[in-house]
Amino acid sequence: MTVLVAYASALGSTKEMAQHVASRMAGVLGDVECRAVAEIESVTGYEAVVIGSAIHNQAWLPEASLFLRRHAPGLAKRAVWAFSVGMADALPKPFRKRAAAFQQERIARVLSKEVPLRAHRVFSGVYRPSQMSAPLRALFHLSGGRFGDLRDWAAIDAWTDQMTAQLAHTEPSPGSTTT
Ligand SMILES: Cc1cc2nc3c(=O)[nH]c(=O)nc-3n(C[C@H](O)[C@H](O)[C@H](O)COP(=O)(O)O)c2cc1C
Repeated sequence: MTVLVAYASALGSTKEMAQHVASRMAGVLGDVECRAVAEIESVTGYEAVVIGSAIHNQAWLPEASLFLRRHAPGLAKRAVWAFSVGMADALPKPFRKRAAAFQQERIARVLSKEVPLRAHRVFSGVYRPSQMSAPLRALFHLSGGRFGDLRDWAAIDAWTDQMTAQLAHTEPSPGSTTT
């Protein structure tokens, strides 16, 4: 089974998560490629695709949205999962779960208009003080916000294992490797 893990990352945290997902899947499924969306000419030859993008301004990075739109006909014939990387866990504690659920629902709705998804997950990424202006930074800190590497690797592994288990039990579809 050949699986593509495609990513769009501005500062590198989504890329590292995609590489981690790909290498964990490869341990079970064998042939898994991890590539930046901008490098991918075609999804022909892949039986399943996982696409991850950093969230900027409540949306996927433009190159990830473009990838989805451009390859929508090919992706529609394959099993597709998506993940988004944001900063919900950087928010003051009472808002974290609600913010992640809101983003998960909202972004999935936008993505599903392009391609049917098996599932979509929002994970927190890396949030640095330099990503906020000085006055906002002070306010954010005072209200209980936090900075740092907020990636939950156990949750990422669990999600990866769910996708892997589904693919391990799927017979390759005849059309998926040729078109
Ligand atoms: C300009 C900018 C805008 C951002 N906008 C959002 C946002 O709207 N929602 C969110 O949850 N996170 C937002 N973030 C946080 C990033 O998604 C988070 O830092 C993520 O780890 C970035 O992934 P990357 O390292 O792959 O670029 C933003 C970060 C930057 C730099």
